[in-house]
Amino acid sequence: MLLVIPAVLDSARLDQVRSLLDQGEFVDGRLSAGDSARRVKRNEELDPGFRHLQQLNHLVMGALVQHPLYQAAAMPYRVATPYYVRYTRGMAYGDHVDDPVMGPPGGQYRSDISTSVFLNPPDQYDGGELVVRTSYGQQSIKLAAGDAVLYPSSSLHHINEITRGERLVAVTWAQSMLRDPQRRELLFQLYQARETLRASQPESEVSTQVDQVYVNLTRMWSEL
Ligand code: NI
Repeated sequence: MLLVIPAVLDSARLDQVRSLLDQGEFVDGRLSAGDSARRVKRNEELDPGFRHLQQLNHLVMGALVQHPLYQAAAMPYRVATPYYVRYTRGMAYGDHVDDPVMGPPGGQYRSDISTSVFLNPPDQYDGGELVVRTSYGQQSIKLAAGDAVLYPSSSLHHINEITRGERLVAVTWAQSMLRDPQRRELLFQLYQARETLRASQPESEVSTQVDQVYVNLTRMWSEL
């Protein structure tokens, strides 16, 4: 499942994020890459020692992780602190699959879901599309500032070369309580049906039944 969540960051938050990022230094992104990614990765990442990193993470991840659609679609068990990634002219990230296990020893997690939060508007750069290969073909994604996209970490994806300007994104990964992407997708569909029923006929018997099935399927399939 590939899901776009619009306006995860509002314009006030985006302004704060970008003014913090303006004060940061960016370093070669290959430093954080696994063996196979290193060969195809050409981008820059915010210096992990940046003094305002916590504030930045709070602004971005606070909004993302609390978003009801992120919660429902990802069912996150562990969520990684993000990388802030910059691509300037000539940079790209070739086809790769994200590392299966990430995090420091003792704080490791499995990457089930990759998320990119777009931090600057698409008219500020040419190229730079995130291209994800799905079972229904390739999807090319270039979103408004503040929007987020979620896709399975198991999918092959790349970032097209930037031919003008600068692309800024926050990228993060989650280990889901539901390891199986098909189960996640089914539960997300059921969640959407439940929300529709809750809004249109909150007191109805069918609304209660669908809610019960959603809750108990979540209980049956969750692994912690
Ligand atoms: Ni990737």
